Amino acid sequence: MTSLIECAWLILGLIHFGAPLTYYYYLSRKLSEKPWDIEINKNKLHLPEITVVVPTYNEETLIEKRLDNIYEQDYPKDKLKIIVIDSASNDQTVELARRWAERHKDIKLKIVEEPVRRGKPRALNKILPIIDTDILVVTDADSLWFKDSLKKAVNFLANPDIGVVSGIKTPMTPRGDSPTKEIEETYRTFYNKIRVYESKIHSTPIIAGELFAVKKDILTNVGGFDLINDDSYTAMKIVSKGYRAIVSDDVKIIELAPVTMKSYRKWKITRAQHLIHNFVSLIKCIRRYPSQVRKIITIEAFFHLLNPWILLSATVLFMISMIGLSLISLLTILVLTSLLLHPKTGSLLKTWITEQLLLISAAIKNLRTKSEVWEKIEEVRTTVLTSQRSV
Ligand code: GDD
Ligand code: MN
Repeated sequence: MTSLIECAWLILGLIHFGAPLTYYYYLSRKLSEKPWDIEINKNKLHLPEITVVVPTYNEETLIEKRLDNIYEQDYPKDKLKIIVIDSASNDQTVELARRWAERHKDIKLKIVEEPVRRGKPRALNKILPIIDTDILVVTDADSLWFKDSLKKAVNFLANPDIGVVSGIKTPMTPRGDSPTKEIEETYRTFYNKIRVYESKIHSTPIIAGELFAVKKDILTNVGGFDLINDDSYTAMKIVSKGYRAIVSDDVKIIELAPVTMKSYRKWKITRAQHLIHNFVSLIKCIRRYPSQVRKIITIEAFFHLLNPWILLSATVLFMISMIGLSLISLLTILVLTSLLLHPKTGSLLKTWITEQLLLISAAIKNLRTKSEVWEKIEEVRTTVLTSQRSV
């Protein structure tokens, strides 16, 4: 009996850790040096008229910084319009955006106000009809772009096969010593690479809402933004129509991340809830996708939907088998402890386990509610005020 349980947790553990490691190393070997198969004219940049859309709900601490950062983009001002779509903020957001517009008359900024808050996706869909450029780029108030991010993202859209472009995210935790910094940075290092590799194959099923560049006609044809997962699932609806959704490592995004574990957990659980919704929906209509994308969806759906539960099962079985205290369980404890104590593998393992726990909590939460309107993490907005760092 004990050896059967031991066998079971060993196999489950191997699957849990082995599958993502194999995927990561397979993609790295095959794709890290591979150039993009997307034809774009590198000498003459494609700089069409575009609209940058900033959805806001109570963003008084960040809105001016966000607008400044868009203004400072290396993109011709006469080709750049900004729309701030605000949903019933009860702070100074709208007033500050209005005053910002008065100070920057060389750029067109329109402010649209919704009388009630119905969530970011609905707010975005509301303003779709008033966008009069072929390309729109959505961004969040709590993010920043590198100077060349916008022009590099838009340039990819010159290619007729590309429907959506996004970039790689780097977290910025306003206080340097935060316990979440290590976890989020380690997570992003691997995640970003995988997003780019998947994009080189065809498309990645995880796209960042902090820079979401899309062709308006294609977006309208798929019915606008998805009401639960406005970034990844919307992009994948576009992929189902034959276009590609890519993340480029040339397009860099900075996002403010929470500093305390409590806020971090909340922040990540909502995101994980949205991702779970994305993968459940994708699995249901997987036949609509080309075969390379189907493989990516299957693997990522496995990682996000099943793999965390495999770890949980392996752990429970491991605990049961510990009663017998066999050689193999002692060895496992030894290996795990030394991996945890080593700085590099320790941080990887901590990050990995945190992510698995967050996915499990999110799956349980999704049984009750999948909210279109989510709780904003205030801490991200307040700590930035005291931060000395700027981009
Ligand atoms: N207009 C409007 N109405 N804007 C809103 C609303 C709303 O009801 N709720 C939030 N926003 C704005 C925020 O002010 C911010 O600019 C942006 O939408 C993102 O909100 P966050 O609260 O910062 O979202 P997040 O970081 O947790 O969400 C992440 O996941 C979302 C979907 O899964 C980001 O990646 C988002 O880009 C993504 O949409
Ligand atoms: Mn955010």
